[in-house]
Amino acid sequence: MTVASSSTTTSATPAAPAVEAVALRKAFGAINAVDGIDLSLPAGRIYGMLGPNGSGKTTLIRLLTGLTSATSGQARVLGVAMPSRTNLARIGYMTQADGIYPELSVWENLSFFAALYGQRDRAEIVRTLELVELDRRLGTPALQLSGGMRRRLSLACALAHRPTVIFLDEPTVGVDPALRVQFWDHFHRLAADGATLLVSSHVMDEADRCDELLFMRDGHVLAQGTPADLRVRAGTDNLESAFLHFAGLSASPPAAAGPTGEAAR
Ligand SMILES: Nc1ncnc2c1ncn2[C@@H]1O[C@H](COP(=O)(O)OP(=O)(O)OP(=O)(O)O)[C@@H](O)[C@H]1O
Ligand SMILES: [Mg+2]
Repeated sequence: MTVASSSTTTSATPAAPAVEAVALRKAFGAINAVDGIDLSLPAGRIYGMLGPNGSGKTTLIRLLTGLTSATSGQARVLGVAMPSRTNLARIGYMTQADGIYPELSVWENLSFFAALYGQRDRAEIVRTLELVELDRRLGTPALQLSGGMRRRLSLACALAHRPTVIFLDEPTVGVDPALRVQFWDHFHRLAADGATLLVSSHVMDEADRCDELLFMRDGHVLAQGTPADLRVRAGTDNLESAFLHFAGLSASPPAAAGPTGEAAR
């Protein structure tokens, strides 16, 4: 589904892209985790990042959120160079490893993160808890939640302050199928309201729910486009085969590993 960009403006100056990278690079010793990436992502869309383990997805997100410094190049969010205090409250980030406090309850975790970013509206915090279906577990310490519930609480912590640029690093790992569908419906509502989402995933049906995909490998963006566009350009109706095409790898017999390292379906 393609959501219309809300960056349309009546002023003569076009709005800055929500997320930009200019020759962005991050090296860890000899490893070029992000190896010279240029991006310009208009607002109001869902961007999916796909690529094998170690292809640089998390590092790219950490550079864009300003949590790690670039070896060279620039990251900008909403036209502001990162890291930026101004942008703190405008950005939501759900980390790949849950960043919640195990001893604090569901309510304490969420109200702490919300307050950190200036959200003190109790009703909004409750709405976010309802979204992740944890509104009946307010007093439960995070360490007593199931793995999927902890993921859901992490998502709530990233969204409660109503950020306009949202980075989600494998947000639905361990989340049950029904709730996963609800999450994606919510992501589309956020994008329709003008938010920009950058979501990493290894799940192909989630990739298909994105407005645009970035195929990543070895710190590079191999290809960018709508899922339909990438399939057409690769001459296939299968996103995993499309990835292999752009990676310069030929699809091999049935159980070959795809972009995600999972067997092709
Ligand atoms: N703090 C670090 N120190 C050293 N190397 C790192 C560090 N963080 C990441 N790397 C390396 O950078 C590369 C990219 O890692 P990254 O976590 O960005 O990959 P990813 O695409 O998110 O993988 P996954 O799908 O497994 O989450 C890997 O080779 C990784 O080992
Ligand atoms: Mg990662």
